[in-house]
Amino acid sequence: MTDQVDLYKKIAGEKAVEYIEDGMVLGLGSGSTVYWTLKKLGGLIEQGLNIKGIPSSLRTEGWAKYFNVPLTDFSDVQVLDLAIDGADEIDPNFNLTKGGGGSLVREKMVNFHAKKVIIIADQSKMVDELGKFPLPVEVLQFGWQVTAQKIADLGAKPVLRERDGCFFVSNNDNYILDCEFNSIPDPEKLHHSLKQLLGVVETGLFVNMTDMVILAGAKGVKVIN
Ligand code: 5RP
Repeated sequence: MTDQVDLYKKIAGEKAVEYIEDGMVLGLGSGSTVYWTLKKLGGLIEQGLNIKGIPSSLRTEGWAKYFNVPLTDFSDVQVLDLAIDGADEIDPNFNLTKGGGGSLVREKMVNFHAKKVIIIADQSKMVDELGKFPLPVEVLQFGWQVTAQKIADLGAKPVLRERDGCFFVSNNDNYILDCEFNSIPDPEKLHHSLKQLLGVVETGLFVNMTDMVILAGAKGVKVIN
């Protein structure tokens, strides 16, 4: 990541806190852009802002604790006021590819149960059509090879994600297949086709789940509704 991209992520991440109101229950997304939101939020909490949040990954949970953001979970709260999350690709209809950090299942649950979802990103994430970024699909470890074959039959090249020479294991103890489709003209249709496959836990396609996008780039920060 270049320093410039990191700066854009910081600008977008910090801008999002302007939409947080006292008393809100928040969905805390995952990724390096959300890190900046959490950091800024920590400062506001120190000044008296009263919120609590549900983290969408163990990494986010760690950051939230570090910045003294009070946490809760779905045993305490059923509906969130606002979720703030990153993305790997965003199309003009606000369909998203997510899961680059491997947290797509918890992110999708958190965002689904929020009244409003704000996606924060640097401008490079905005694309005409999803698909250049390999689509993360979370699958059961058991039989992942046959699940991968079924995904390949849909026209993708699935690659089992690795980290530090080991298979990457999600926060839910599953594997991630990064699936090269190159082009995803109908994200909703592909999501449903993948979800029908035995062994697929969830896809990184987030369709009709975003209310607002905050993009930062060379021309400044843009809020798109
Ligand atoms: C993690 C995600 C992230 O939100 C996505 O990868 C964006 O990350 P970053 O803000 O680091 O670019 O979906 O599963």
